[in-house]
Amino acid sequence: NNIPPTIIYIFGGSGDLAQRKLIPALFNLHLDGYLPERVAVIGIGRSELADTAFRTHLRKGVQAHSRRKEALKTHWNKFARNITYSRHDLGQDKAYKDMAAEIAALEKGWKEPANVIYYLSVAPNLAPVIVKKLHKAKLASDPKRHRMVFEKPFGHDLESARELNALLRTLFAEEQIYRIDHFLGKETVQNLLALRFANTLFEPVWNSNYIDYVQITASETVSVGNRGAYYESSGALRDMVQNHVLQMLCMIAMEAPISFAADEIRNKKLDVLQAVRRIEPGDVHQHAVRGQYGPGWLQGNKVPGYRQEKDVAPQSGVETFAALRLFVDTWRWKGVPFYVRTGKCLAEKETVITIQFKPAPDFAFPEEASHTWRPNRLTIAIAPTMDIRLRFQAKQPGPHMTLRPVDMRFDYAPDGDEDSQPEAYETLLEDVIEGNPTLFMRADQVEAAWKVIAPVMAVWASKPPVDFPNYAPGTWGPEDAEALIARDGFHWATLP
Ligand code: BG6
Repeated sequence: NNIPPTIIYIFGGSGDLAQRKLIPALFNLHLDGYLPERVAVIGIGRSELADTAFRTHLRKGVQAHSRRKEALKTHWNKFARNITYSRHDLGQDKAYKDMAAEIAALEKGWKEPANVIYYLSVAPNLAPVIVKKLHKAKLASDPKRHRMVFEKPFGHDLESARELNALLRTLFAEEQIYRIDHFLGKETVQNLLALRFANTLFEPVWNSNYIDYVQITASETVSVGNRGAYYESSGALRDMVQNHVLQMLCMIAMEAPISFAADEIRNKKLDVLQAVRRIEPGDVHQHAVRGQYGPGWLQGNKVPGYRQEKDVAPQSGVETFAALRLFVDTWRWKGVPFYVRTGKCLAEKETVITIQFKPAPDFAFPEEASHTWRPNRLTIAIAPTMDIRLRFQAKQPGPHMTLRPVDMRFDYAPDGDEDSQPEAYETLLEDVIEGNPTLFMRADQVEAAWKVIAPVMAVWASKPPVDFPNYAPGTWGPEDAEALIARDGFHWATLP
């Protein structure tokens, strides 16, 4: 391949993300021939670690988390010899001087200027420090060759996201900034564009004339575990809704793009976020439900309550579950509720989008047919199940005209082998290496998403919850979440 030589710095290189996601993804790109021929992957962290120990640590990550672990034996060594580790304090100028020397030495060896990617997998409060120092040391001075990747959370709220964006704007060009939302790299999420805009069938009915509601569930069975310190400053709204859930909502609600140019798609998504009806502080209780898990049992294991997790305050009011009822005030979506929910320690791990269509206009069937009739429904399973099901009515075989709902189903991984699909981080890292920002968040999108949840965050912060913990592990969250949607005459959908 003819990708220019590339240096990938991973700030926070000895951390969890590098081991579980980034290196396994880079390894797969290496196996598929998508990495540049000349590449250097350099982990930066605060702990002392020899290159060999670092590589062993990463190899374990691939062993544990990669879909291609069988290739370790044959291909790891060739890949790993491009990986090194340096211990640095990223708050000190010295780190950047050393990096400059290192980049110069690599470029000298390659006899060509390199593209340099700085991957910030660090605590959010370090980001401003790092970008200022990168700028001062002129390490990111060429918009065409120097890129920065920001892990979420991007900011802590609207205010801090604005500040960070403003800072980045003064130092760099927007094309250098890659704000990651890893859900956008998932095959099934990208497929939403294909489903909607490469078919004739769905788009004509994709509006308030035919759709009763949209639901997005991103439920997890995992607890907060050892992420208590991070989660205490986050909560479900910030951790999942501001980014992943709202991005999926954008893909469902956006208008057709006129091209696949990065900014065109991002403009169309921004329109959606800007059209989400503002929830007035006085109405938050009607549109939002929060929850926190107590102690209990999950899949046969005893689990502590959120308040008993490591690094969590004993009276913590942080939500581990959030559900919202949103409206997108556009011509297409007027009046259609979008119900979204996410949480930890729930009954299933599933990310699913459900689109329920309105009843047929005239139901001339005999009374008995109505008992088993169900509305048309398109169910898009994003992960870990990856399929699309369209529910429609069929006649029940037999002498009477009775109906039964049946599914047409498209399965991404027909052999049940979900592991054959590229992982989100593979797609996204390849895009960064090639300089394609389509699947990354632009500054204005991030801010618009913060605006959507800001009123709920403010009201929740000002009124400590009195009923926490309010759900048991292994359930679908607090009872109020059911009430939120039952008021409109609907129920939460789960994968059958
Ligand atoms: C991350 C959140 O962004 O997404 C985690 O911080 C969450 O809390 C994770 O567990 C879920 O991602 P996935 O791809 O495993 O569903």
